[in-house]
This record gives sequence, C-alpha cells and structure tokens, in this order.
Amino acid sequence: MSCTIKDIAKQANISISAVSLVLNDKPCRISQEKKELIKKIAKENHYTPNINARSLVTKETKTFGLIIPDIENIFFSRLTKSIESYCRESGYTLIIVNSNDEYEQDLYLIDLLLSRGIDGLFITFSTSAYKHEKEMCAKLNKLTVPYILIDRFFSDFNCNKVYFNNKKGAYLATRYLIEQGHKKISCIIHSITSHNLSYRFEGYKEAMDEYGLEVKEEYIIKGDYYIESGYNAGDIIMKNSTTAVFVSNDMMTLGLLKRLKEEGIKVPEDLSIVSYDNTLNDFIIDLQLTSVEQNILNLGKKASELMISLIQNRHSKFADICLEPKLVVNNSVKKIID
Ligand code: RIB
Repeated sequence: MSCTIKDIAKQANISISAVSLVLNDKPCRISQEKKELIKKIAKENHYTPNINARSLVTKETKTFGLIIPDIENIFFSRLTKSIESYCRESGYTLIIVNSNDEYEQDLYLIDLLLSRGIDGLFITFSTSAYKHEKEMCAKLNKLTVPYILIDRFFSDFNCNKVYFNNKKGAYLATRYLIEQGHKKISCIIHSITSHNLSYRFEGYKEAMDEYGLEVKEEYIIKGDYYIESGYNAGDIIMKNSTTAVFVSNDMMTLGLLKRLKEEGIKVPEDLSIVSYDNTLNDFIIDLQLTSVEQNILNLGKKASELMISLIQNRHSKFADICLEPKLVVNNSVKKIID
C-alpha cells in the first residue's frame, strides 16, 4: 500500500494540512525540527503525491493531452518529443494519443483525454477532418479546456493555432527547381485540397505561374502523406516528361525513392527532387535531399509556451502564430543548362 499524507501525519503526530504545506514547500508556522521529521518520514516511506487526490483540491491535474495523426511519421514523433519535454520541464505530464489520421478517432480521443481530466489539449487533427469542418469546429467550440491547433487548422475558424506558412514553403521549393533550370515540374500533393493542405499546391502553382511555366494536369499527382502514395506516384512520374518533382511531405518522398530505385532511376541524375519536412537526411545514405524545413522543435516550443500562458490566463484573445519555413539545399537537384 503506498504511503499517503494521512500516514505521514499520523507518524509525525501533526495535522494532514500541515503535512501538505510542508511537502509542497508552502509557508507555514511549523518548527524546523517538525518539518525535517515530516520530510524524513515521507522519504523513508517513498511517498509520492497522488495527483488525482491533489486535483480534487486544486482542480488541476497538471496534465495535457496531445492528439497526433501519425506517430510513425518522423515529423510528428519529433513534434511530440518537443512538446513533451517542454511541458515536463514546466511541471506538466503529456498524454499522447495517435489518431491514425482518422477523423472519427479525433473525436473519440478528444473525449477520452477530457475524461482523464486534462488541463489543456494540443491537436494536429487528421487530414480527413477537413471533410468534416463544421462538426470538428462545433466539437472544438464545446471544449471546456484551452486547446491549440498545431500545424493544421481551418482558415476561417478563430482559435489558438501554431503552424508554418505552407504556401511559402512550397513556393520556395518550386522556385528553387525553376532557378536550377527545370521547366517541367511535377508535384505530389495531398488529395484533400482544402485549407492548409491545399496551400502547398498553391505555393507550387504560384512559382510556376510567376515564371510562366505550364502546369499540365499530368504534373499534378495526388497522395495522402503516407509512403505508399509516394511509391505509386513514382509510376506516374516515370511516364510523364517531367525532369523534377516537388513532393509535399517526406513520407511520400520515401515511397517515391523506393519506386525509383526499383527501376534504376537515379536522383538527381535522372530526376530532381525537392521534398518537405527535412526529416530524412539523417537516415538516407546515398543522397541528401533538398527539402523544406519546418523547425519542429520551435513549433513544439511555441505551442507549449502558448498553452502554459493560456493555463495561467495570460491570454485574452486568440493567438495565431505563423512560423517561417526554410529551404535546405542539398544534392537532390541537378542544374539544367539549356
Ligand atoms: O509529413 C506530415 C505532414 O503533415 C507535415 O508536412 C506536416 O506539416 C503535417 O501537416
């Protein structure tokens, strides 16, 4: 049976409230000798505070929830690590749940985390949530705890959100390919073309339009941010006449590289690639991808700082934090001289 505050009070022959004040280092009129006795008993009995019991008094569990769509995606596992370490340093525990990019799971997991008494919620909702905007926004509006949308949001839904400028990232990627002499450029984008999932496609188109380059229908390949869709896109790219491709996330790039390797197609000799997320170069050997970096550590830090300030009521209006992506140039793009 674990030691409780009541057990310590009995052994020290003092009130439970006095023990609570001493163990929480709160100011109290108790002799130094008694304080040392209380701490000694607690240590000898391996006392650990019961958060559930404490939350009945403080109405706080010092716990946040985090819903992510794909924990196997390095982008989200790194984001999780950033948020977890920052929140723990601030005295909060993080309950992490994975929705498998399923909207129905988003809704279920929100209720599950609320039932665990979380004090705040971080969520990157599933891409499929964009098909259920009204229902998702209604759900979020009813939340009884502060929440922050991370990375994905609904453009006309006012709430606390922290994300990167997706359109700019895609524009930088595509403009770089054009500046390296490529004119026929494919893009592998997410099939859901709404809100910030479409912004990467819009950034690609903006760069192509700016340089007067045609975007043929066959250049536009739809994926789902998972490896298999990038692999399948490889078959389409091998048939069209493009010399370069902008891939809107690293997992699809992994699939594409696998397909190209199977056919002996070399990067960048035969096909140039710019990817998105910049999370693969620590793991792939014979190539270093040029990629759009979203500083994941900073994304997690900004979201965590915002949550802590929301909890401490230091915020009156919604925060809309848009971070800048960066193009990291490596060796996956060949320069074409006309
Ligand atoms: O790789 C997963 C993608 O989904 C990332 O680019 C991130 O922006 C998320 O939206």
